[in-house]
Amino acid sequence: MNDLSPVSSPRQGSDAEVLRPHAEEQYAEELHLLAKEDDRPRPPGWKLSPWAVTTYLLGDGDRVTPKYVGARRVVEVAVATLATDRALLLLGVPGTAKTWLSEHLAAAISGDSTLLVQGTAGTPEEAVRYGWNYARLLAEGPSVEALTPSPVMRAMAEGRVARVEELTRMPSDVQDALITVLSEKTLPIPELGREVQARRGFNLIATANDRDKGVNDLSSALRRRFNTVVLPVPATAEEEVDIVARRVDQLGRSLELPGAGTGLEEIRRVVTVFRELRSGVTEDGRTRVKSPSGTLSTAEAISVLTSGIALATHFGDGVLRPADVAAGIVGAVVQEPVSDRVAWREYLETVVRERPGWQDFYRACRGVS
Ligand SMILES: Nc1ncnc2c1ncn2[C@@H]1O[C@H](COP(=O)(O)OP(=O)(O)OP(=O)(O)O)[C@@H](O)[C@H]1O
Ligand SMILES: [Mg+2]
Repeated sequence: MNDLSPVSSPRQGSDAEVLRPHAEEQYAEELHLLAKEDDRPRPPGWKLSPWAVTTYLLGDGDRVTPKYVGARRVVEVAVATLATDRALLLLGVPGTAKTWLSEHLAAAISGDSTLLVQGTAGTPEEAVRYGWNYARLLAEGPSVEALTPSPVMRAMAEGRVARVEELTRMPSDVQDALITVLSEKTLPIPELGREVQARRGFNLIATANDRDKGVNDLSSALRRRFNTVVLPVPATAEEEVDIVARRVDQLGRSLELPGAGTGLEEIRRVVTVFRELRSGVTEDGRTRVKSPSGTLSTAEAISVLTSGIALATHFGDGVLRPADVAAGIVGAVVQEPVSDRVAWREYLETVVRERPGWQDFYRACRGVS
């Protein structure tokens, strides 16, 4: 592998040039700090106690930054589940941090968030069980060396947490391959007359999107192996502003966009627009508005603002202004060209135009609508 320099082993270690380091690399210091001070009992195979994992996720108001912003109980239930023999299913509408939370849980519990299976309609069974290196298989016949383990198999053998993204999108026979893994905690390899038995510390976190439910509804046999935790959308505008501000600040810093961290007024505005359109009513409860077809999630608010900051940095004076977010907002709202445009126009004319202090924003939106 030495001559394939850009290709590295999955566990690469930290590298300043990497665009998006894994959670356990990015927050290595915090994890180390927590492990050092953690004197509570750790479940077998865990790097931290459940209490320290929860602190890693929610922050301690001091040296540990919050990763997930939301109810403590939600996180505690998720962490406690992983300390039992049941797997964890994170369920929720798009952009509620299912993937984000699952990555940080795996990082804190196993020190490794990379044992990941992406669920799609085309996910093969090998992605959950194992495959073969066909050159070796043909040359040598079935052997341990010719076998290519799936991330789930590696997690079992190493006693770590595996992640399955978008579980409900996988074909149902592939989903069913997880039933034996979760109930027997073994993965048979009939070709070799062997099996892999899960070591202590093994568990599985799956995520699934509410909107995809029904596409390939989970079989009840599989569902019984999971504890489901529903991740809520942020309850209040303040909470959502807090989430967005934090993530925009982090992203801005990692993309080296100076000026990130400012622009709280624009963050409030984007969050307000998204919340009002999502709920179909203005925040004062007085005016009904049409909801467009897009999800307008917290995640989308974050990307509208990050793009806005890039515009302000590279083409403006570095200060985030209404014109920098207008195009992004319109792009996020108008997904379906006819009806969404009507809904957006109506919102613009009946709500945005009349709102004190929103005149610049109104003009900027008119300019790009
Ligand atoms: N409550 C929250 N706390 C912290 N970050 C959040 C929260 N809600 C959303 N985010 C941010 O939103 C972004 C998107 O989250 P993520 O991709 O995990 O969503 P998801 O639920 O997996 O969505 P999808 O169903 O589209 O896969 C992340 O950058 C995450 O930091
Ligand atoms: Mg996701």
